[in-house]
Amino acid sequence: MTAFLNVQDVTKTFFGFTALSNVNLNVASGERLGLIGPNGSGKTTLINCISGALEVDTGQIVFEGSSISKLAPHQRAKTGVARTFQIPQPFHSMSVVENLMVPLEYIVHGLIDASNEESVYCEASEILSRVRLDDRRHAHPGDLSQVELRKLELARAIAARPKLLICDEAMAGLAMKEVNEILDILLELNSAGITIVMIEHIMQAVMRFSQRIVCLTAGRIICDDLPENVMANPEVRRAYLGS
Ligand SMILES: Nc1ncnc2c1ncn2[C@@H]1O[C@H](COP(=O)(O)OP(=O)(O)OP(=O)(O)O)[C@@H](O)[C@H]1O
Ligand SMILES: [Mg+2]
Repeated sequence: MTAFLNVQDVTKTFFGFTALSNVNLNVASGERLGLIGPNGSGKTTLINCISGALEVDTGQIVFEGSSISKLAPHQRAKTGVARTFQIPQPFHSMSVVENLMVPLEYIVHGLIDASNEESVYCEASEILSRVRLDDRRHAHPGDLSQVELRKLELARAIAARPKLLICDEAMAGLAMKEVNEILDILLELNSAGITIVMIEHIMQAVMRFSQRIVCLTAGRIICDDLPENVMANPEVRRAYLGS
């Protein structure tokens, strides 16, 4: 059976510095995968290579059996790949609900009647309620709290109706209660059929979320296993967990 997402032997360098070195990773449809690793280990670079913000030097990104390595980010989004950014990137001049119009009108075009403002607005409202942000629909990003900004970032990603959602530290800087709020939303999205790769440093969240964990160190995967095995792995403990 073809894997849902296949990262095949991916290498990425920046001016001679190797950020990713022969990375191989398979993600199954419906899976919840945690991606961990020290600062600078290549997690965001890997996400950028999958989502199309960066082109791989060598190797392939295969999604549902087809190579997407040469596609632009918006084309990858149309195939069903969405990501959130480590630093939320809303359109600051637009309200919360207007922020969703962009992915709805450009990515989902054809699936909903983008010329019908009411149907776009309905869809946006439905997405905002999935991330519990419907009561803030007319606010501007500058007026949102940290957790609300993270929810907007998630809403913008799921507006494109992804099959695969990659979250880059969607909980950074949040209090534990807020971390759990975001986790509950991610678990609900996964139950609704979205495959999720979660990059996170908050180990409590990684453990609650992940069915499998991959640990990157200096651009290489050093462990890819069940959560309890990754936590017990001596190399992971030395490189990342600090013991
Ligand atoms: N566009 C770029 N140009 C040059 N170097 C880069 C670029 N993007 C990333 N790097 C370098 O590649 C390495 C991996 O960075 P990356 O952002 O992927 O790490 P990360 O695992 O996401 O770290 P963090 O946990 O701090 O977010 C770092 O040494 C970083 O400085
Ligand atoms: Mg990063």
